[in-house]
Amino acid sequence: MVEFDKLELPKEGTRIKLENGKLLVPDDPIIPFIEGDGIGREVINIARRVSDAGVKKAYGGTHQITWLETYAGGKAKEIYDKILPDDTISAIDHFIVGLKGPVRTPVGGGYRSVNVQLRQSLDLYANIRPIFHIEGVPTPILHPETVDLVIFRENTEDLYGGLEWPAESEPAKQISDFLYQQLKVETRVDAGLGLKVISQYGTKRIMRKAIQYALTHDRKRITLVHKGNIMKFTEGAFREWGYEVAKEEFGDITITEKELEEKYNGTLPAGKIIVNDRITDAMFQEILLRPGDYDILVAPNLTGDYMSDAAAALIGGLGVAPGVNMGDHIAVFEAIHGTAPDIAGKNIANPSSAILSGILMLEYLGWQEAANVVFRAMRKTIQSGQVTADLARLLKGVSPISTTEFAELLIKNIS
Ligand code: NAI
Repeated sequence: MVEFDKLELPKEGTRIKLENGKLLVPDDPIIPFIEGDGIGREVINIARRVSDAGVKKAYGGTHQITWLETYAGGKAKEIYDKILPDDTISAIDHFIVGLKGPVRTPVGGGYRSVNVQLRQSLDLYANIRPIFHIEGVPTPILHPETVDLVIFRENTEDLYGGLEWPAESEPAKQISDFLYQQLKVETRVDAGLGLKVISQYGTKRIMRKAIQYALTHDRKRITLVHKGNIMKFTEGAFREWGYEVAKEEFGDITITEKELEEKYNGTLPAGKIIVNDRITDAMFQEILLRPGDYDILVAPNLTGDYMSDAAAALIGGLGVAPGVNMGDHIAVFEAIHGTAPDIAGKNIANPSSAILSGILMLEYLGWQEAANVVFRAMRKTIQSGQVTADLARLLKGVSPISTTEFAELLIKNIS
């Protein structure tokens, strides 16, 4: 039985279970949520209300989520004097599925990112970000309808692992000495140092997850994104290990780009998935010029982070881009965006990204009907031209509505 320090188990609701590697979702699952900082509080509570309304509409009262509030960031600091309490990690670990708002991380000193800590503690190694256009959302490109990408970003390794040391600190000096004495590599004494770690294990499991996703979601192309021409033993190895998984574990259903041309005359045979790769800088150009040529992108941590914001811009920006951090089964759904301190507390944030993350969560629970109900209502609301400021400013003659007005309209469109 799970024990918490300060959280109280809800009196109602049932825990999602795992049996033989499959989720067993009851009709009344307990789902932990984290409001987070900044606009998190505004958008997450709306996402919960909207999900509840969709569930009610789809199932007429037979299904219901019991929400359990857990804490990270500023609110956690107030209650636990800690920005990521053990209670929060245990609750998500125990209840398997969670919904999370953004949490602030100061630049430079201070503390390690809550997000990085959470991903590492629960081994949420895959950050999955679907990027698709909702008709009616203004975008900077002419044909946003051609964008339908799913970015699989490795979530635990790379330069993002928090392994770094300030210039002139003792560890930096020791590493610098070691590099010089053992490897004859010189680093400046005034250099901060960071470690880029990309393992075979980490790479293979994200690639495996991407291929499995392609199989279950009828996706046809997986592109490994890397800068292996320069960083040969990290990003280059990422590419090699990615191809290895495709060949060794899914050889009967994957083909390379070369095989497509040489063996199949450029026509993808039924039931096959193409695996190819692109150098990161070229890929940034490709997603702008030819997004329709790509489907699933698998990238190391840092590249995946950059690329998902760039890809989000293609379909209207951070306000409409959802995501999930996932391990083998545990899944924490969250928007791509951060705490947006410039607009926090002003009731002008776009809650769509958090709502879309809620939709992904409903799909993960197997509640597709509820997910569809919410998605249709969201599309209808956006198409009516009633949108928050981030989108309104890109549309001619449209006055923005507030975060809460948008939510009310959407809920009305559900019922
Ligand atoms: P940000 O995503 O919070 O904001 C970037 C820009 O996009 C801002 O102009 C903001 O107003 C706008 N924006 C973001 N979400 C929006 C929404 N829903 N509606 C309308 N406009 C929106 O990125 P920033 O400023 O780099 O980060 C702020 C804080 O958030 C930092 O402390 C950062 O560490 C944290 N962060 C947390 C994340 C998480 O918890 N998953 C993810 C990204 C950043």
